[in-house]
Amino acid sequence: MAEKSEFRRYLVNMDSISTHQLFTDCLVIGAGIAGLHAAIEAAKHRNVIIICKDTLENSNTWKAQGGIASVLDKADTFESHIADTLNTGCGICDEGIVDSVVRQGPELIEQLLRWGAEFDLIDGHIATTLEGGHSHPRVAHAHGDETGRIIAEALIKEVKQNSNIKIFENFYTIDLLTNDDNECVGIIGHDIQNPRKADQIIWAANTILATGGAGRLYRETTNPEVATGDGIAMAYRAGAVLQDLEFVQFHPTTLYVAGATRALITETLRGEGAVLLDNKGQRFMTDYHEAAELAPRDIVSRAILTQMRKTESTHVYLDVRHFDKAHFAKRFPFISELCESFDIDVSRDLIPVRPSAHYMIGGLKTDSSAKTSIENLYACGEIASTGLHGANRLGSNSLLEGLVFGKIAGQFVSQHEKTAVSLLKHPLIKYQIPHSDRTRLDTADVRNSLRALMWRNVGITRRAQPLTETQEIIRFWQRYVMDKIFDSPQSWECQNMLTVCLLMAQSAQMRQESRGVHFRSDFPDTDDENFKKHIEITR
Ligand code: FUM
Repeated sequence: MAEKSEFRRYLVNMDSISTHQLFTDCLVIGAGIAGLHAAIEAAKHRNVIIICKDTLENSNTWKAQGGIASVLDKADTFESHIADTLNTGCGICDEGIVDSVVRQGPELIEQLLRWGAEFDLIDGHIATTLEGGHSHPRVAHAHGDETGRIIAEALIKEVKQNSNIKIFENFYTIDLLTNDDNECVGIIGHDIQNPRKADQIIWAANTILATGGAGRLYRETTNPEVATGDGIAMAYRAGAVLQDLEFVQFHPTTLYVAGATRALITETLRGEGAVLLDNKGQRFMTDYHEAAELAPRDIVSRAILTQMRKTESTHVYLDVRHFDKAHFAKRFPFISELCESFDIDVSRDLIPVRPSAHYMIGGLKTDSSAKTSIENLYACGEIASTGLHGANRLGSNSLLEGLVFGKIAGQFVSQHEKTAVSLLKHPLIKYQIPHSDRTRLDTADVRNSLRALMWRNVGITRRAQPLTETQEIIRFWQRYVMDKIFDSPQSWECQNMLTVCLLMAQSAQMRQESRGVHFRSDFPDTDDENFKKHIEITR
């Protein structure tokens, strides 16, 4: 029977004999904190290729502001960080993973310091601040609100000077390749800047997926253009088990200036005293939660939406006018410049903000060794669902998770017996997609409409009917997009976005309760009896 186009195994035609080929012990896909750290570890005993679809500098890690959470203060304890992570995760964190990740934090931050990441210090010790849900200041930051950039720069420097690591930038991964035993054997990709040899196969004894998040599936997001969920879609096509795709974290405070792209306004501002005001100048978070502005992110995001509706406004405001102006500029240099570029004088003006999609909690199911359900395929960072976050992520735990699981994945691969030699008998892969003469839709239009649909129907508040309709609409688009063979990253991204959005809407439909970041207005209570568990999806 012919393969249905929405269940197609590969996005492109393939004949492995006639395609340009490379071999490696370890292939790392993605260059955020997890991918870079995995590459450094794997390169201790293996040769490594790291590929990313833009430059090494274009990642969610690079844009991270607030910081990285860890127990760095004598008055803080591992037990307290573990308890805060479990409380925020609403009953479905993996306790063993939480314990192990939290305990590895201080040592790995020391390692970052040795690699040259200059964290902000007070009296010679790493300075820490607060974010919502933390019962102790434990968010370490660097260059004020440029923590991600400082960490990424240190890791990139290490990667660039390692002779066991080759870097391919502007290299788009189209699909994971699997053999007849469903073992991952590498990828087919597209070298964006090399039109003569654009399509290339990289045979890899071990593949580490670290492609990051999927915020671009939503109209409003803090994420860069690259965050389109490609890794999730290609792993799904390859048959990997995915879990918890209904859990998307919305960040409460994204700069809202009509017509401008959205930008994160770090939660550490609220950690250091910024308050939220509505368009009447009233502080409102005290009406919604005892922790006010420092309540968990899902609660603050929903409160902002409710307040926007009550006051018939498109946004609310962050008030930082009481901060010392010079201190603010030093502590939050990125936000200072950003606000200045929009003529917002933070000592006099309020900062217009509203929530937007920020972090994908679900993803590829992995175990404590970063292994996925597919042999030779590992995942780490935002694409992985390790069980650390449960149903809601504690702020700044994600850089920590990427650092820990990047190391675990890289270490595992560096000691794994399989090397590129095992690929000398690689499989022949031939795959032919039937021609379709159905109407060709403009994939740029589909992407825009899809992102708007997700924002409206699979956003901060969900309900059965819009979730059903979302699936119907996506399936309609899929009929006209998934049957085509494209030759550009933008169109492959559109195919991936349709795939991941459908899975997210299905997962959100299945979870008939509210838990953590997943809020169903038709099932507002948590239902432990039926849903204190993960929702898994596989092809
Ligand atoms: O608000 C922030 O700086 C975001 C931190 C995070 O998402 O971990």
